[in-house]
Amino acid sequence: MLKFNSFKNTPILKPQSEHAFKLDSCELLSNDIFLLTSYSKLKYKKNQIKMVIKKPTIVIDKEITISKITEMANKAKLSAARFRPHFKTHHSAEIGEWFRQAGVSSIAVSTLDMAEYFTQYNWKDIMICIPINILQIKEINDLAKRVNLHVLIDSIKVIEHVGKELNNNLNIWIEIDVGYKRTGISSEEIDKILRAAHLIQNQDKMHLKGILTHSGHAYHAHSIEEIKSIHAESIHRMRNIKRILNEGGFSNIEISIGDTPSCSIIQQFEEDIDEIRPGNFVFYDLAQFRIGSCSIEELSMTVACPIISKHSERSEVIIYGGGTSLGREFYVSKEGNKIYGLVCKGADDGHWTEPMENVFLSSLSQEHGKVIGPSEIIRQLKIGDILYVLPVHACQAATQHGHYQLTDGTILSKFRP
Ligand SMILES: Cc1ncc(COP(=O)(O)O)c(C=O)c1O
Repeated sequence: MLKFNSFKNTPILKPQSEHAFKLDSCELLSNDIFLLTSYSKLKYKKNQIKMVIKKPTIVIDKEITISKITEMANKAKLSAARFRPHFKTHHSAEIGEWFRQAGVSSIAVSTLDMAEYFTQYNWKDIMICIPINILQIKEINDLAKRVNLHVLIDSIKVIEHVGKELNNNLNIWIEIDVGYKRTGISSEEIDKILRAAHLIQNQDKMHLKGILTHSGHAYHAHSIEEIKSIHAESIHRMRNIKRILNEGGFSNIEISIGDTPSCSIIQQFEEDIDEIRPGNFVFYDLAQFRIGSCSIEELSMTVACPIISKHSERSEVIIYGGGTSLGREFYVSKEGNKIYGLVCKGADDGHWTEPMENVFLSSLSQEHGKVIGPSEIIRQLKIGDILYVLPVHACQAATQHGHYQLTDGTILSKFRP
């Protein structure tokens, strides 16, 4: 059920049940925001920009976002791989529609609640991208009745436990650790992987789809060459496991990979890759920019924050926008400064300028962010101005907000954990 906003081709989505309505919807946004949406629709014609920002607000450039979605979808197509984007970065029904328009029908999410949100918007092929939580078997059974559900498993005990409790069909992926050392059976534990595959095969309702990995260690790379080499090593390990499984009698084993650095850098995936699951690329952020996944112009999300205090003598301004709006990740610059975000000014078209030189967010508390920079720049900033902060980790910033705003003022709804 898509309706289109009168002045921009942005779908206004209505969830299909009361339940989802309670979880998230435009109508449940604060009065300010709802008034703004109605006001924009009534008063402003196409191409007229009406951004009203009074408090920390995520602003998204739709055009850049769609061009990245299209590019990744084309890359998957070129490589004959299924594109299963991870929706945990944006968690927005409307942005989901931009993916659908690029041909996507399979998605990954990180929690059952997020999966429930997207089922309300007609997503029917969903992967829960963390190892099964055995305390939620009842919820998994319930969801598996309604959608084509995929789950990850990295423990023999869990297979045995879940096998006894399942009463609906479940697609199972054995998660493999190729070096990140977070979850997954180590790619060196071949016997355990084979044992897991046999056990899955013996469970009535479990269907072994393949092996899956997330090369999160690519985030520690310092160059494009290093990302490429982590990717090559991951593929080598996954290919080896697939060969051993095939020799052990398991056919149709698929390989699923997915991390934004590798998926951004690699131009065409190896022919044995069946699925890619990047998520962060939809917005990108400073962490991705620093390791070479993207250019600064490809960052399509900022957090717009009002200046609430100014201290010219210290060459700093304080913005209303702290850890609760931006997340708390930082990096350390060559000069040894902790950087929580780079800072841009607003542009006339509702977008933002390039980052101001040597101006950065140097510390955060719950609602405050301290911006420092050269005195000649700080001097020009006024209390009440809006600064646009490029976050270090877009997923973390996005999680903190209940809605987004496009550069033309349109409000997008989203799931809020
Ligand atoms: C299992 C899994 N797959 C895919 C992704 C998406 O990767 P990225 O955030 O690098 O886009 C993640 C992210 O944490 C993940 O944990």
